Amino acid sequence: MAIFGKDEQKQTAPDRERLPRHVAIIMDGNGRWAQKRGMPRTFGHKAGVEALRGIIRHSSDLGIEALTIYAFSTENWKRSVEEVGALMGLLLEYFTRELDELHRERVCIRILGDIDAMPKGLEKQQAALRAAMERTKDNTGLRLNIALNYGGRQEIVRAAQTLARRACAGELSPEDITMDVFADALYTRGMPEVDLVIRTSGEMRLSNFLLYQCAYAEFYVTDVLWPDFDCDAYDEALAAYAKRNRRFGGVQ
Ligand code: IPE
Ligand code: IPE
Ligand code: MG
Repeated sequence: MAIFGKDEQKQTAPDRERLPRHVAIIMDGNGRWAQKRGMPRTFGHKAGVEALRGIIRHSSDLGIEALTIYAFSTENWKRSVEEVGALMGLLLEYFTRELDELHRERVCIRILGDIDAMPKGLEKQQAALRAAMERTKDNTGLRLNIALNYGGRQEIVRAAQTLARRACAGELSPEDITMDVFADALYTRGMPEVDLVIRTSGEMRLSNFLLYQCAYAEFYVTDVLWPDFDCDAYDEALAAYAKRNRRFGGVQ
C-alpha cells in the first residue's frame, strides 16, 4: 500500500494559511489501547506504527515543514526486555519497509537522540537509522525527525558539553554562546521553532521531550489513544492551533 496516496478526501481541510511550520508529537497510549482489547502491549505498538504512517503522509500532503515524533525516550529502557525488544523490532521493520517510499516522497529523516549509546544487540537498528539519515539527507520535502533514545535534559547537557569543549579549545568565548549558538548545538539544529506539540492519551506532561525547543510552543492534548489518532484527529489539532492567539510575551 502506498503511504503517500492522495486519493483520500479530507472532510475538514485545515487552514493552510495558519498551519504550524513544525509539529512535534508525543505518541502516547499504545499500551492502554492494547490492554482495552485484552491484548499485550506490543499489539498496541504495532497499531501505533500504522497510525504513524498516516500522520507522516498527511503532514507531507499538507506541506508541513517539520514533524518531530517521540518514538522512544531515554527513560523507556526501564520497560521490560520483551517490550523494548518488540519496539526495536518494529523500528527495524519500519525502516526496512518504508524507507524507499519515504525517500521517493523526498522526506528528509533525522534521528534526534544518542544512537551510539544504544545497548549492545541493536547494531542492525543503529545501522538502519544511520543509513536512513544518510540516504535522505539531501531531500527537500518533509523534515521528519525521529526522537529515539532521546531525552530533552540529556540533549541540553550534551549541547553544553559540546560548547564547553569548543571554549576550552579556544574556538569561542563564553560571550559567544548566544541563544542561536546554543540552538545550533542541539539535535534540532536548523529546524524551525516548534509551533505545536500534540500529546495523545490525555497525559498533561512533556516527559522530557524537546524541553528547550518548546519555550513558546502551543500545546494540544487529546484523550484519543495514539493508534486511533487518524487524519481527522490530526486536522482537529491543526484547527485548534489555527485558532490560538500566540502572543510571545507581547500584547495582541
Ligand atoms: C507510547 O505508548 C509508545 C512509547 C512510549 C514507545 P505507551 O507504550 O507509553 O502506552 P501507554 O502510555 O502505556 O498506554
Ligand atoms: C513518552 O511517553 C515517550 C514516548 C511517547 C516515546 P511515556 O509513556 O514514556 O511517558 P510517561 O512515562 O507517561 O511520562
Ligand atoms: Mg505512555
